[in-house]
Amino acid sequence: DKSGYKHFMAKEIWEQPTVLADALSAYLDGDDIVLPEGLDFSETDRVTMVACGTAYFACLTAKYWFETIAGLPVETDVASEFRYREPPIPDRSTALFVSQSGETADTLAALRYCRGKADRILSVVNVAESSIARESDIALPIHAGVEIGVASTKAFTCQLNVLYLLALKAASDRGRMTSEELATALAELRALPGVFNAALDRDASVAEAARAMAEARDVLFLGRGLMYPLAHEGALKLKEISYIHAEAYASGELKHGPIALIDKAVPVVVMAPNDHLFDKTVSNMQEVMARGGQVLLITDATGAEAAGEDVWRTVILPEVSPRLTPLLYALPAQLLAYHAAIAKGTDVDQPRNLAKSVTVE
Ligand code: M6R
Repeated sequence: DKSGYKHFMAKEIWEQPTVLADALSAYLDGDDIVLPEGLDFSETDRVTMVACGTAYFACLTAKYWFETIAGLPVETDVASEFRYREPPIPDRSTALFVSQSGETADTLAALRYCRGKADRILSVVNVAESSIARESDIALPIHAGVEIGVASTKAFTCQLNVLYLLALKAASDRGRMTSEELATALAELRALPGVFNAALDRDASVAEAARAMAEARDVLFLGRGLMYPLAHEGALKLKEISYIHAEAYASGELKHGPIALIDKAVPVVVMAPNDHLFDKTVSNMQEVMARGGQVLLITDATGAEAAGEDVWRTVILPEVSPRLTPLLYALPAQLLAYHAAIAKGTDVDQPRNLAKSVTVE
């Protein structure tokens, strides 16, 4: 049932405020994060996170959170590479697998590889009755509800939600965060569904940019810090459903090659909230504009003002705590892909050549 929406993907994008609020309440009790007994990070020296596709970009985002907030080193890899590399798993390691379906063949094989090597196996899944959930020591449901669109949307934000809660838990277990700081972080997270609504209200400006972009053959996505994994997620979403070739780069890598691609025909999506890395990203953006590149800047009001007039188009999101920007900025990335696909007339829910669950390697 599409609940009146034209596509499941649209429904799944637009229900994110409600879904996130419900998903969050399943893990919170006042100022406490409710997690299964024994899920403690004080004896952990390293986390290995493995997944495919969008779930992998959720892991990459979590790496920034775990390392910055909890001081806990994280290795991330795509499951198809991890499983055949025979990666050594150091002592006091936790292995963590993220999968919407819980049935992805490569992710399951990577999990089986870690059995007996890692101290414990965690998974973050949407389908609680899945193989990956069953074979984990602890499976954490993301509570996104059934996701039908092949392009993952609400599962991504709900994966981020659980991973962020785990990073906060790790930070408090490891004495990196006081209970007051934790309470503040949780209050910000509780306010996020409301902020999601405000972000979805910017739909018209995203749709307009998407229509203007739909004729492009190639699109670049740039981001720094927490926006770097999200740039990948935005590019993946656009490729999957609009068939426009899209690539993501860390903003700082621009000069090391991809800037050679820039001309008037290549739109560049820059995701840059006004955080401690903003000025650096703006200077990369100016390098793009100086070469005729058309920049779509996704930022907040302070960022939009600081970026100046020469930007091709700007989408202005509400300001949130810098740590929460991956969840919030996921929404315009999803909407951009959705509207580009609509403009191109592609099959949004069932893009060519793709399956919702990839059970063969
Ligand atoms: O079910 P999983 O989360 O394990 O699936 C992983 C990928 O196949 C999946 O995220 C894929 O990349 C999506 N189509 C992305 O929109």
